[in-house]
Amino acid sequence: MTDARLAELAGLLPGLRLLTDPADLEHYGRDWTRRWTPAPLAIALPAEVAEVQAIVRWANTHHIAIVPSGGRTGLSGGAVAMHGELVVSLERMNRVLAFDAVDRTLTVQPGITLQAVHDAAQAQGLIYPVDFAARGSCSIGGNIATNAGGIRVIRYGNTREWVAGLKVISGSGELLDLNRGLIKNSSGYDLRQLMIGSEGTLGVVVEATLRLTEPPPPSQVMLLALPDMDALMQVFSVFRAKLSLQAFEFFTDVAQRHVLAHGGQRAMDGDYPYYVVTEFDAVDERAMETALAAFEHGVEQGWISDGVVAQSDAQAAALWRLREGITESLAPRRPYKNDISVRIAAVPAFLHEMQSLLEREYPHFEVVWFGHIGDGNLHINVLKPEALAEAEFISQCEHVTKLLAQTLQRHGGSISAEHGIGLVKRAYLESTRGAAEIALMRGLRQVFDPQGVLNPGKLF
Ligand code: MLT
Ligand code: ZN
Repeated sequence: MTDARLAELAGLLPGLRLLTDPADLEHYGRDWTRRWTPAPLAIALPAEVAEVQAIVRWANTHHIAIVPSGGRTGLSGGAVAMHGELVVSLERMNRVLAFDAVDRTLTVQPGITLQAVHDAAQAQGLIYPVDFAARGSCSIGGNIATNAGGIRVIRYGNTREWVAGLKVISGSGELLDLNRGLIKNSSGYDLRQLMIGSEGTLGVVVEATLRLTEPPPPSQVMLLALPDMDALMQVFSVFRAKLSLQAFEFFTDVAQRHVLAHGGQRAMDGDYPYYVVTEFDAVDERAMETALAAFEHGVEQGWISDGVVAQSDAQAAALWRLREGITESLAPRRPYKNDISVRIAAVPAFLHEMQSLLEREYPHFEVVWFGHIGDGNLHINVLKPEALAEAEFISQCEHVTKLLAQTLQRHGGSISAEHGIGLVKRAYLESTRGAAEIALMRGLRQVFDPQGVLNPGKLF
């Protein structure tokens, strides 16, 4: 250990795994954004809460920044370490600690993957309902740090609804035991909820107690082809009124083309500008008849051009892949991403303004739209033309994001629906949060982390 501070840390915690190999610094210093060059001081892989606490205290003594790190599947640069920080990877703290059948809670360490949480819940005949495509790699600590959403929000809400308790090491090194699994607790500020979505700037999650629930009734998956953008919300309101929706997701023909080129299976003969994948409760024949009636109504109104109902689990998975495979199919192109939301009622008007803005401002770029339209959440992924330099591409996208942020502000929306602010959207926080609100957020950060060692430069 050539760095005296690291040598001290290693002396304090003889069992702590510390990595300083260039390949490790690179691997743990970046997330799925791939935009910044990682340059952390070292990587610490604690195995227990006491080690995390000692690391945070050591960081305070030496004024060393810490980047808490989970599966690093984040899309906003929240887990990027590029200024000599110590990355604290929670990946070794990945166990299920307890299941309580009466409370229906699962207590886990932060480095456990979302998939492992799903499996543990399923083994108890229950589900943890937050779900999205990165389930196999993302960690629950990271989900909590960004209040992750995904494809089931329409039925179950965001991560925030499913966290019954949290143990957290604050920026000053205190171990906080927040809410302790209580359903009712009207005893002052809910610091657990404050931690959720704080992007590692207030504390490091070292344990989470998650709420589980009953599995949903049997469901059916349908792919719909739509002739135009207006049809999206028209079909949504009919389907929401008639069916009990578990998911309602949309994508465009451009998105489908990328997934098909990456192994996705075509489900319909024709090409249509918009598609919806929806999943709904289908307990009996009657539910399916209602769904087909809603579909027929959409066809008669001219809102639906074609449709496919999954005939097997394999076909349902193939239909879902058309939506869930988008991020992976675009990843090699390192898209510039917007992740925005407006109230559901504001979606139609906002979509129109956004479409003309994007057509006007990005005449030469390929723009891929998709997302959780039933939650008012849209993903815009912009692809760089090969000949264009990266810096020039980013600067053009930033210009458009500024205009998009203004449009969102007029519609009362958010510049980050579910990916977090991180590094990517810092400059646009004011479009979503008022000046007084941001000042209070900064004040809170100061209270929890007086020396500013936790994930500095992220969020603000
Ligand atoms: C998704 O919903 O697939 C991701 O959150 C969106 C993205 O990769 O931009
Ligand atoms: Zn998403």
